[in-house]
Order: sequence, then structure tokens, then C-alpha cells
Amino acid sequence: MNRFLTYYAFSRSEKLFEDPFFETARPIYETPEFQSLGQYIQHHDVNRITHILSVAYLSGKIAEHWGIDKETTVKAAMLHDLFYYDWHDGEWWHRPHGLRHPGFALVNAKLLCGREVDERVENAILRHMWPLTVIPPKYAEGYALTIADKICASLELYYTKTPQRREKLQQMIDRINESGEAEHG
Ligand SMILES: [Fe+2]
Ligand SMILES: [Fe+2]
Repeated sequence: MNRFLTYYAFSRSEKLFEDPFFETARPIYETPEFQSLGQYIQHHDVNRITHILSVAYLSGKIAEHWGIDKETTVKAAMLHDLFYYDWHDGEWWHRPHGLRHPGFALVNAKLLCGREVDERVENAILRHMWPLTVIPPKYAEGYALTIADKICASLELYYTKTPQRREKLQQMIDRINESGEAEHG
């Protein structure tokens, strides 16, 4: 868990944008569609761009450890929550958000990236809410994504719960920003 927390703090630091991982993430990151996600809150005070970058970095690290396709994993992670609404508001068609948003994200991912959304990326996006949605991912890259998503969501909720926890995470992020190292872990 400590390692996950270190990766998570790294993903919240400025060093993230210098990490080799970001070369895969950048083309999606720089689109206006992706940038528009910054206006939506994911968990407490963490916006959706911040959430997605954390999931993309962590799932990439899991892919490295497992020896699976890191580029596919990171690409799927960058697209996994690509839906243009605030899931906390009360519109009927957002409900049940947990079940439906992977499908919305897939449609938007195809509009944004076309054929780059191959079968593995598609399946990982569509199945990332497993086991809430009952069909599991088909490929290892999808498992890396669904695990990273849940770890990041848990850490987002935990470290925004009290001012003390917020401060603790911020100190970790500050230390990484101030360190000379290019990459952690
Ligand atoms: Fe999601
Ligand atoms: Fe997510």
C-alpha cells in the first residue's frame, strides 16, 4: 500500500509531466475535450483531470510490474472517465451513473481518438467499473485499469476527508516537487 501511496503522491506532483509516461498521455491530455473535464469534481475537491492522470499513472505502473502493454493501459486510463457532465447533479439520465458512464466514455473516446481505440482499449474502458458492472475485463490491461481506478478513488476520498489528511498528502506532494529525482518508484 505504501508503494501505491508513493505513486499516487507522485501523480499529484509537477514531476508527473516530466515522466516518460506522460508522452503516451500527452496527445489526449492536450485536447480541448480532455481539458474541459477540469470543471467537473470527481471526489470532494479532486477534479476529473486530476483523477484521470492519477489513474493513468498508477495503471501504467501496474502494467510495468505485470509486464503487459503499458501504452494500451495508459491510453485506456486517459479515456476511462471521458464524459461531459457532473455525476453529482440530479439529472435522471445520469442515473445510475456507475453503470452507465463507461458506455458514455467509450462513445466519447471513439469520437476523440477514432481507430486508436482498439479492442483492448475499448474493452478496458467499458469494463472499468467491474465488479459493479458484472462482466469482468477481457484483458490484463483492463484489470490494471480497474484496480488503479479503485485505489485512486479510495485515496482521493481518504485524503480529502479531514484538513489533517489533506495536509499530510500535500506534504508528500511538496517533498516530491522539491526533490531532484525525475521519477519515484
Ligand atoms: Fe469511471
Ligand atoms: Fe475513474
